[in-house]
Amino acid sequence: MQPISEIIKKKPWIGWLLFFATVIVVFILGLFASTIVERRAESVFVYTPQVEHSQFEPRNNVWGENFPRQYQSYMQTADTTFESKHLGSTGKDALEDNPDMVILWSGYAFSRDYNQPRGHYYAIEDLYNTLRVGAPMDGNKSIQPNTCWTCKSPDVPRLMEEHGVAEFYAGTWEMWGEEVVNHVGCADCHEAETMNLRISRPALVEAFDRMGKDINSASHQEMRSLVCAQCHVEYYFSKDVVDGVDYLTFPWDMGKNVDDIAEYFDKIEFTDWIHGLSRAPMLKAQHPDYEVFSTGIHAERGVACADCHMPYKSEGGMKYTNHHIRSPLANVSSSCQVCHREETDDLVKNVYDRQDKIYEIRTKLENLLVKTHIEAEFAWEMGATEKEMDDILMDIRHAQWRWDFAAAGHGNSFHNPLETSRMISNGIELAQEARLKLSRLLASKGHNEPVPMPDISTKEKAQDYIGLDMSTLNAEKEQFLNTVVPKWLEAAKEREATYKTTRK
Ligand code: HEC
Ligand code: HEC
Ligand code: HEC
Ligand code: HEC
Repeated sequence: MQPISEIIKKKPWIGWLLFFATVIVVFILGLFASTIVERRAESVFVYTPQVEHSQFEPRNNVWGENFPRQYQSYMQTADTTFESKHLGSTGKDALEDNPDMVILWSGYAFSRDYNQPRGHYYAIEDLYNTLRVGAPMDGNKSIQPNTCWTCKSPDVPRLMEEHGVAEFYAGTWEMWGEEVVNHVGCADCHEAETMNLRISRPALVEAFDRMGKDINSASHQEMRSLVCAQCHVEYYFSKDVVDGVDYLTFPWDMGKNVDDIAEYFDKIEFTDWIHGLSRAPMLKAQHPDYEVFSTGIHAERGVACADCHMPYKSEGGMKYTNHHIRSPLANVSSSCQVCHREETDDLVKNVYDRQDKIYEIRTKLENLLVKTHIEAEFAWEMGATEKEMDDILMDIRHAQWRWDFAAAGHGNSFHNPLETSRMISNGIELAQEARLKLSRLLASKGHNEPVPMPDISTKEKAQDYIGLDMSTLNAEKEQFLNTVVPKWLEAAKEREATYKTTRK
């Protein structure tokens, strides 16, 4: 075949044909490019505000009018079907699965009920349902302060704005029953005007302040974890900030790991409750997901909570953040395989391997703690004195704190298996130390054989052993749900009907 230049030399019109053909192809490509841009512009157009509302608009469906994709995916947190080997969205009864926990929390409301978390959609409903807030009716107050509402709802920043932060926390839980009705949502994480990520909870900002850090200078990637750190953290109710108020405080002043926080609580002599059997001054860990995650390998490589729990999703040429927050194992391809090349089965196995191994040692610590509480109870019955028990009770406090810190951050065993096994190992040592001291003490009282253990093989047996009257608690709860809650919801509906929103 002749080279193209020679063909053109002989027949110049072929040259012109090639020239115009190229021009047409370029033109068509240009058209494609511009329609793609236009499509994008279209989708941006869809996102220009359909409705104008304030920062303190608590209703997710109102924000959702402007951002239907994010809203619809967020509302999928109502789905309770996903279950992995150890976790998931089903809200399983954890005490039934593991009656040992009833003994560990004897004397504390968690021994009444404790379920695995469900999606954000249920934050309010599950709070109504839990026996831990009691059944405030007929002028009786809840056993919990208003502070308990703090990580459940975008009505919280609204009320803090309207009344003040300490004023919001003050008083008992039933006080805001008519006011806090919308589940965790848009206003908790977003700025209304720009949709930038926003920290709406003062406790996190205050903790940063006390550490000498300014949360406003956090990077975009840090914010993709910090919005979660407003709620998925360790906290306590401090009596020392404002007189007579249970002020929500993060115990991070001496550092954020399990040992630093224990030292902090010891220093300020803080105790959540006195154990019903051993009488040890106990600490309850909340859900230190952020703290434990932050020293794990993913955090150290700059991966944020949202990378795995809120991956991007594509739909009709649009990429948006999937707001269906739940176990990433429900969606390994977008949650993990954007960074990892391994097969889904291998990645899931990696997660389960870490969890299985941690749960193995965590269960050992759990069993030891049950024995320790019951042996301590026995020592009191044998006439042990406070002076003899003091040191033992502090070991129990510190051992159970490590168990709880490991267990209460539900994602810990994957987020940071190394740190989680370290805390459990130290907990095992402390519990063994307490048991050693207890057996020496019991021997000095003339008891030189194993302490008899009760039958606590089911939740019911364990609750019976610690003296809980479950049938009364359940009956009162049912009445509360049938009489009080519907009135709260009715009053809230009337109030919200008066809110002003401008539609375009
Ligand atoms: C728990 C926190 C949280 C809640 C609640 C939340 N978002 Fe988001 N949202 C995020 C994060 C994280 C991103 C990713 C932001 C980024 O990387 O810039 C995001 C991104 C967005 C974006 C930017 C576009 C995109 O898809 O990335 C919009 C719009 C948005 N969310 C709307 C909403 C709406 C509407 C609601 C309520 C129905 C809502 N969000 C609830 C955390 C949240
Ligand atoms: C305003 C408080 C708040 C914020 C902010 C928040 N959460 Fe939650 N989260 C909760 C509550 C409360 C629950 C438990 C709801 C229930 O069980 O009823 C929960 C549950 C969860 C669950 C369990 C869901 C399931 O189906 O298993 C995951 C996972 C989770 N959150 C991740 C996140 C991530 C990631 C972020 C940040 C992007 C975040 N959360 C921000 C309060 C919050
Ligand atoms: C590298 C990915 C990754 C990152 C980043 C990540 N997680 Fe997780 N998270 C997981 C996996 C995997 C699980 C275990 C899920 C299972 O077993 O079903 C999990 C579990 C959880 C759970 C328990 C879910 C349940 O069903 O009970 C919560 C809550 C949670 N993570 C919150 C967070 C928060 C808050 C952050 C940031 C501080 C974070 N995660 C960062 C991967 C991640
Ligand atoms: C944004 C990127 C990113 C995402 C998303 C991500 N990872 Fe990773 N992952 C990393 C990096 C980086 C490392 C550290 C490995 C290294 O530096 O060689 C890592 C490490 C790991 C390790 C080894 C950790 C250890 O304990 O030694 C496992 C297992 C893992 N990832 C599983 C997952 C799973 C499962 C998911 C989804 C739930 C996931 N990753 C999501 C980036 C990511």
